[in-house]
Formats: sequence, structure tokens, C-alpha cells
Amino acid sequence: MDNNLAELKGKRIGFAMTGSFCTFARVLKAVQALADAGAAVQPILSYASAQSDTRFMKAGELAGHLKRITGSEPWTTLQQVEPIGPGRKVDMLIMAPATGNSMAKLARGIADTPALLAVKSALRNGCPVVIAVSTNDGLAAAAQNIGILLSRKHIYFVPFGQDDPIGKPTSLVARMESIPETAAMAFLGEQVQPILV
Ligand SMILES: Cc1cc2nc3c(=O)[nH]c(=O)nc-3n(C[C@H](O)[C@H](O)[C@H](O)COP(=O)(O)O)c2cc1C
Repeated sequence: MDNNLAELKGKRIGFAMTGSFCTFARVLKAVQALADAGAAVQPILSYASAQSDTRFMKAGELAGHLKRITGSEPWTTLQQVEPIGPGRKVDMLIMAPATGNSMAKLARGIADTPALLAVKSALRNGCPVVIAVSTNDGLAAAAQNIGILLSRKHIYFVPFGQDDPIGKPTSLVARMESIPETAAMAFLGEQVQPILV
């Protein structure tokens, strides 16, 4: 195991997935890597992720994969995630993938899905929050929100870049395979570099 990843052993990580369905398969590999590194991962789903059958994955398949990898049923309601704050139930919150929609809300203090309330609850306790961008409007409408989040305390970014500059000139996607390393560095209070890849 990468030396860095030793940092993850025994840590309680809330893992919130929002509705960038095309990245789910890659993100699940990162969840597996966190579990392999010894983290206790609690999956959390936005309403869109919990309820949508898409061409990329059916909602039931997503929940099944997460249960198999982490041993936990995903939390899919506000009531399930609310105790994260008062009960200090996680050491870190990862939002991966993070949609343009969820980043816009997070930047503006809106917490109306389980994924967003989980982030809010973690930040309330000063826990690190790791974000893995995935949105077609990353260099358009979402750019200002990414900028707001980049400058916010306790928030760390999984390195990201343009996935298809010619075909989708404003699209940004994080390197999902770098989630474990970004999380390990965030526990040390450091942003992994370079952010832009
Ligand atoms: C098949 C499919 C793929 C999508 N892919 C993305 C995506 O990659 N990035 C994104 O920001 N939104 C994407 N969306 C739109 C979001 O799912 C939508 O904005 C939703 O309201 C997000 O809710 P959430 O952020 O609470 O999960 C996609 C929607 C569908 C149906």
C-alpha cells in the first residue's frame, strides 16, 4: 500500500455520491480502495443518485455495490445523515462525484439532499471535506461555484481537468483514482498537488 494511504486506516469516512452517473463505476473503484486501506466507509446518496435508473447503472445496482464493498446500506434520507453533526459520526466527508447542481448548492449554503446535509454536518465539526468534480459546465456556470469552494476552509479537491476539451469544451472531471490519496493528504491538512491535471 502507498505510504500515504496508511493515514486512512481506521478512519470513518462518509462517502456522498451525487448524480454524475457516468462516473459511478470509476467512483466505486475508489470506494473499494478506501475500504482496502482500512477506512470504515458509510455510503450516502443524493436523492437523484438513490432514485435514478440510468443507462450507466440502475439505482438498485448502485446500492448493492456499495453494500457489498462497505458492508453498510447507503443513507438516503435527511434523518439518517442529520446525526453526523451532533453525534460526530465521521472523520471526513467525501463528495464524489460532485455534480454542478450539488456544488452550486454547497457554495450557497443549501443542504436539501442527504449528500449536502452530510457535508454541512461534517463542516460544522471542522472535519475535512473532499470534493471530486464532475460536470459538463465546470468552465461555464459551475466555474464560480468551484471557485467559491476552492477558497473555503476544510475543503480539498481531487485533482481535476478537462476530460474532452474539443467535444465538451466546458466539462471538468476529477481523477477518481486519486480520491484515496487526496483523502489521505486532507487528513494531514494538505491539498494534494497539482490540482489541475
Ligand atoms: C444520465 C445522466 C447523467 C448525468 N450526468 C451528470 C454529470 O456528469 N454531471 C452533472 O453535474 N450532472 C449530471 N446529470 C444531472 C444531475 O443528475 C442533475 O442535475 C441532478 O439534479 C443532480 O442532483 P444531485 O446533485 O442532488 O445528485 C446527469 C443526469 C443524468 C440523467
